[in-house]
Amino acid sequence: MPYLEKEEFNLNLEPSLASTHKPRLLILFGSLRDQSYSRLAAEEAGRILERMGAEVRIFNPEGLPLFDGEKSADHPKVQELRLLSQWSEAQVWSSPEIHGNMSGLMKTQIDWIPLSIGAVRPTQGKTLAVMQVSGGSQSFNAINSMRILGRWMRMLTIPNQSSMAKAYQEFHDNGKMRDSAYRERIVDVMEELMRFTYLTRDHKDFLVDRYSERKAMN
Ligand SMILES: Cc1cc2nc3c(=O)[nH]c(=O)nc-3n(C[C@H](O)[C@H](O)[C@H](O)COP(=O)(O)O)c2cc1C
Repeated sequence: MPYLEKEEFNLNLEPSLASTHKPRLLILFGSLRDQSYSRLAAEEAGRILERMGAEVRIFNPEGLPLFDGEKSADHPKVQELRLLSQWSEAQVWSSPEIHGNMSGLMKTQIDWIPLSIGAVRPTQGKTLAVMQVSGGSQSFNAINSMRILGRWMRMLTIPNQSSMAKAYQEFHDNGKMRDSAYRERIVDVMEELMRFTYLTRDHKDFLVDRYSERKAMN
């Protein structure tokens, strides 16, 4: 028996029309501290993305309830987060490294985004860039964990990434980032995110179409 029956290999190879609107970027950050460097890094990334032609929304997680299954699913902050995720074509996740991992708040935000709401998949096939800030020396624990999380959310996580060591040294008093190799890296990451988003946003349904899921629907 052939590996794929003809009807199982039912792919639509016609290219869709190219979108012309600005890429829709949702940025999440993982700290509620007043002087949060992961939030400042997220805002820096947002300014850079706007300069590159994106429409940017930054979700403020203040007031988001702890994840409790569906009990608080009607909470306005949960609804806001889910709608923003649906709206987005690309996302940036900026977390501090806490105890060698992403923060609980970062994880909580993703826990609140279901893989599917009916036929709508708020993250599937969308591009993702991951960033972390640390108090200590440079490490990659939080971004590595967020890559795993991105895979679970079926996102296209871009190869480049940002890890800022000793983040407390990297910002001016007005909250903007000092010129440094870390800032240049963030520009590189956002540029790559824009490129991947332009390339994939009109083809995400095609890219994430799965044989086993088509089969299960028949
Ligand atoms: C409880 C706790 C655990 C931390 N764990 C780490 C860690 O594992 N590695 C590290 O480099 N920094 C660690 N830090 C430092 C934070 O990453 C750093 O202060 C960061 O700026 C916090 O993020 P924020 O500024 O966005 O709030 C820790 C800080 C706290 C309070």
